[in-house]
Amino acid sequence: RIAYVNGSYLPHGSAAVHIEDRGYQFADGVYEVCEVTGGRLVDETRHLNRLERSLNELKIASPMSRGALSVVLRETVRRNRVREGLVYMQVTRGVARRDHAFPKPGTPPALVITAKSVDMSKGDANAAKGVKVITLPDNRWERVDIKSVGLLPNCLAKQAAREAGAYEAWLVDKDGFVTEGSSTNAWIVTKDGVLVTRYADNGILKGITRTTLFDLCAREGVRIEERQFSVAEAQEARECFLTSATTIVMPIVAIDGRPVGNGAPGSIATDLRSKFHEVAE
Ligand code: PDD
Repeated sequence: RIAYVNGSYLPHGSAAVHIEDRGYQFADGVYEVCEVTGGRLVDETRHLNRLERSLNELKIASPMSRGALSVVLRETVRRNRVREGLVYMQVTRGVARRDHAFPKPGTPPALVITAKSVDMSKGDANAAKGVKVITLPDNRWERVDIKSVGLLPNCLAKQAAREAGAYEAWLVDKDGFVTEGSSTNAWIVTKDGVLVTRYADNGILKGITRTTLFDLCAREGVRIEERQFSVAEAQEARECFLTSATTIVMPIVAIDGRPVGNGAPGSIATDLRSKFHEVAE
């Protein structure tokens, strides 16, 4: 495998960043994960728009123009011979002697890009069975709309899910409403067949898969409500599912050990999963 690191394509095993990189010391950086199908990046424009927004919110300089970044992304996919898989890109505020305040203007941001092949049949197998989630308190900071590499609460939540034999942890705010998963957006389907997902303010990451699913639902005539929902409402829902670039649409069959619907993957989630790539660009 080949990784792109600050202007060079290097063997993945020996690619490295400096010990005083601010991403390493302070989690002072942002990232994107983008699906690859047929050798193409899915929803590249939306991912690059969100990367730009995350960088702007944190006042990190862009490492290169959008056009140049697009070329490097494609080249990294090509050099790794990825047809179906994922691309990871990360930008940090760069290398500087440790000091919490920003380094002096002109310090170049650090850019790393990797690409890997993923066997998509594993996701399809999970989707055919449906996955389980647990719920945990959402103890993250109040700017999770920024796709920052500071993911410790997310890692702890995902690990707790693993240890409970679940696929994902749904995070619950202090008022009892589900915000999102540790690395996915959260959805339910009401008895009337209306999709419900939390509105995207600073309390969730506005997923690209979420946005593209809005497009698909508009095409299919499926109604969506953007509002909060509680764990109890989710457990009583007709269906539940989660979305992300890595999972697409993944049906949920149990929440905290209580079956959702009839305990099998929902037909609406399954249908949307099968059609997703018809609208993704
Ligand atoms: N995670 N919410 C959180 C907290 C996420 O980390 C992600 C993505 C999403 C879904 O966003 P999108 O549809 O753009 O992938 C929601 C990526 C996949 C990750 O961290 O690996």
